[in-house]
Amino acid sequence: MTIEQAQEEAKRNLWLHFTRMSSYQDAEIPVIVRGEGPYVYDQHGKKYLDGLSGLFVSQVGHGRTEIAEAAAQQMSELAYFPLWSYAHPKAIELATRLADLAPGDLNRVFFTTSGSEAVESAWKLAKQYFKLTGEPARYKVLSRDIAYHGTSMGALAITGLADIKPPFEPLPPGGVRVPNTNFYRAPLFADDKVKFGQWAADEIERAILREGPGSVAAVYLEPLQNSGGCFPPPPGYFERVRQICDTYGVLLVSDEVICAFGRLGYYFGSQRYGYQPDIITFAKGVTSGYAPLGGMLVSDRLMEPFNEGTATFLHGITFAGHPVSTAVALANLDIFEKEDLLGNVRSHEGAFRATLEKLYDLPIVGDVRGDGYFYGIEMVKDKATRESFNDDESERLLRGFLSHALFDAGLVCRADDRGDPVIQLSPPLICNQEHFDFIEQVLREVLTEAWTRI
Ligand SMILES: Cc1ncc(COP(=O)(O)O)c(C=O)c1O
Repeated sequence: MTIEQAQEEAKRNLWLHFTRMSSYQDAEIPVIVRGEGPYVYDQHGKKYLDGLSGLFVSQVGHGRTEIAEAAAQQMSELAYFPLWSYAHPKAIELATRLADLAPGDLNRVFFTTSGSEAVESAWKLAKQYFKLTGEPARYKVLSRDIAYHGTSMGALAITGLADIKPPFEPLPPGGVRVPNTNFYRAPLFADDKVKFGQWAADEIERAILREGPGSVAAVYLEPLQNSGGCFPPPPGYFERVRQICDTYGVLLVSDEVICAFGRLGYYFGSQRYGYQPDIITFAKGVTSGYAPLGGMLVSDRLMEPFNEGTATFLHGITFAGHPVSTAVALANLDIFEKEDLLGNVRSHEGAFRATLEKLYDLPIVGDVRGDGYFYGIEMVKDKATRESFNDDESERLLRGFLSHALFDAGLVCRADDRGDPVIQLSPPLICNQEHFDFIEQVLREVLTEAWTRI
């Protein structure tokens, strides 16, 4: 297929996700054709640093033949069999390995194929668990403003991004919002992180009391919130949230679709911040994207009622825990161990932060925040007042200039204005100073140019 043919067919037949298709009427659709390590290459052979790991996915980087071999071997041995009433060896092996890696008594794994399915499965589990244990009125779920938890109807009801919901309403009832932990824009206690964190956690308690404790099933929190541009938890936040959940019998779901598998230097984000969830949802990095897989890790306590009598979790997905995906996940985790990727993140994260913080000398850089290999850079019109861009400026800045300019400069990252305008970075876990320097250099050039265009 020629480059021209591919463009024509892509424009005629392919529907890109969350994409204004009209914006490609007179522009070329970028076509990524191959990857190697932390780099990808487009249809013209141009090289890019994959500064977003695809979509927070490619932890071990691209082109790992040992994972491809594991997939090929599994396909010839057993390409498919469902987890409906049956098991297969790779699902068993992976479930046990994940249970060993996970914090506390999260010993039961329910596989899915995606993050949205994991998030929605956890909601269904919470609802059925409470029906089985004599609290049938608990169905509501709390989640944070601007947090993204997926797009299927249930997951969308949990997602905190108001703008992506109206076309699909009415959504399943029960989604309730609480404040996020954006300290840069703290409405209260802006000079005290601990007090701010306490307030943000206490808002969860207030929401539970407002809704009626007997009606609330779960609270969904990412260890470090992605959407909005990387909001780490303030000190003490999760400790207080755990207390609140215990007081009111509400389940704590740690949505680690992004934060698990090394993104924050630990297998699970909850381990980094030292809290014990009742359920962890995961996807993305579990296979580094070599095959689709998601799932939830569930505590022994939540599993108990399902171990008795006729109780059955009335939920299933044809491709969940697919033999090839689980074989791929095991090969992926082998690489984590062999190359000590968690150690790589922990030993380089300080350098990553320091390199990005050099950008503070630019007038447009308001805040650099994150942890591990996961950062957001918030852009502002006025550093002193933290004034942000209005909708029109944001549109011109992000869609009109930054997204293209960063890509043209050879850096895949994300310019996002679902909250305030941010650039997000989440490079493969194999990256080191050479890659941080490249990221800094591209951002410096492009953001300097952006400033002149406002
Ligand atoms: C925290 C979180 N939860 C859920 C999802 C949904 O995952 P998926 O796109 O695999 O359905 C995402 C996707 O980015 C996510 O970041």
